[in-house]
Amino acid sequence: MFSCTHCHHSQLKWSGQCPQCGQWNTLLEQEEIKSVGRIKVAGKKGDVVHLRPRSTSHTRLPVESVELAGVLGWWLVRGSLTLLSGEPGIGKSTLTLQLAQWCASEKNPVLYVSGEEGEEQIAGRAHRLGVVNPHIHFLHGEVVEDIIATLQSGMYPIVIVDSVSVMYSNSQGGASGGMAQIRSIAETFMHFAKKTNTAVILIGHVTKDGDLAGPKTLEHLVDTVLFLEGDRYQSYRILRAMKNRFWPTDAIGLFEMGEKWLLDLKNPADSILKTSAQVWSALTIALEGNRPVIMEIEALTHSTRFPYPKRSARWISTQKIELLLAATAKFGRINLDTDDVYINVSHGLSVGEPAVDLAIVAALLSSDQRKPLNHALFLGEISLTGVIKPVAQLEKRLEEAKKLGFQTIHIPAVQSRLQSTKGVSIITHESIASLVQWIKNV
Ligand code: TYD
Ligand code: MG
Repeated sequence: MFSCTHCHHSQLKWSGQCPQCGQWNTLLEQEEIKSVGRIKVAGKKGDVVHLRPRSTSHTRLPVESVELAGVLGWWLVRGSLTLLSGEPGIGKSTLTLQLAQWCASEKNPVLYVSGEEGEEQIAGRAHRLGVVNPHIHFLHGEVVEDIIATLQSGMYPIVIVDSVSVMYSNSQGGASGGMAQIRSIAETFMHFAKKTNTAVILIGHVTKDGDLAGPKTLEHLVDTVLFLEGDRYQSYRILRAMKNRFWPTDAIGLFEMGEKWLLDLKNPADSILKTSAQVWSALTIALEGNRPVIMEIEALTHSTRFPYPKRSARWISTQKIELLLAATAKFGRINLDTDDVYINVSHGLSVGEPAVDLAIVAALLSSDQRKPLNHALFLGEISLTGVIKPVAQLEKRLEEAKKLGFQTIHIPAVQSRLQSTKGVSIITHESIASLVQWIKNV
């Protein structure tokens, strides 16, 4: 069997170019691992490479964080390359240090390679975090070839590289952080991970608008792509797996920034329900992966001083807001053409799914009409014709809503058969017009 070191495509015959990713000379012969502890031999004709024995292929992750384990699985797979990406300042270095603190043991020492921060800085941070594990070792370096040479001894089953954006490969031209460099570095570490049976975690920065060093560029190169998301000035973080060759990608990890590091977020509803008695906010339940997550949509409408009214949205696309404003004007007869409109999702959680449309419009109307929504929950997609369309997996969301103690839930009229529950008032809407009517009567 021949396997491509670049994209892991496997085929029976050798060829110079990989038919899947188009790379040249990347197909290596893979021999079956005969038994645990045997030396695995792989290589091109006449080029025998001895690899370390594969006695353990996984490193058990400790159970300190249920949220992290939900995303990664309970295992860190040896011989794999994981990319952890996110905006600068979001908590990537902190999260990997936490992981190192939990994983490192005499049998499984962890190496933290940093090109971003010097020894003193890292030591200071480790001290601040209370990272006292003697089996975490640090290496400061930027040149990948030097780092790999240091690592060849193979004594570290887990290696964390912070970050791909500041590393430099001598075998490749271009500026560090550039596309060619980043690809080359990821390829080198991938090769290293496979050859030495090491679990490598690469940290990569992404910018808000583009994904320069981001998941898209490296997605097909690495085994796992994790994305840490949130607003750096707010406390919540979501960890998503955008790709994972070893574990389902539909689970998310919810964290809250602690004084030291990220803590599992036990019940996101708690803080939202406690603080959301304001007039201008509407609550909804979005599905993140397979998990229902409560979200709070805030809206502010205010007469504009500009020739064109401002539309500004954080954590929701402005395009969606414009569309919902148009539908509200046409079918709800509420025109906000002379108002500036600001929309925000509390805690910096981003939402894209259509099921939150109704909550957005409810929040807008609440602000415009100055009517409090009093912890009502809104679930519904709004079509271009002003009709409220059904929501995917409504039962799951309603179950969560009942668990959280919601007493008023707005749902699409087409799904009204789902209503009967004691103590919960279900209000159905056929169209935007009926939502407008309801809010005017509050
Ligand atoms: P850091 O991990 O350095 O972010 P990144 O590596 O993604 O750029 O975190 C940014 C700052 O936030 C850092 O000064 C530490 C602080 N921080 C906390 O105080 N508590 C936390 O839970 C986290 C994650 C970070
Ligand atoms: Mg960092």
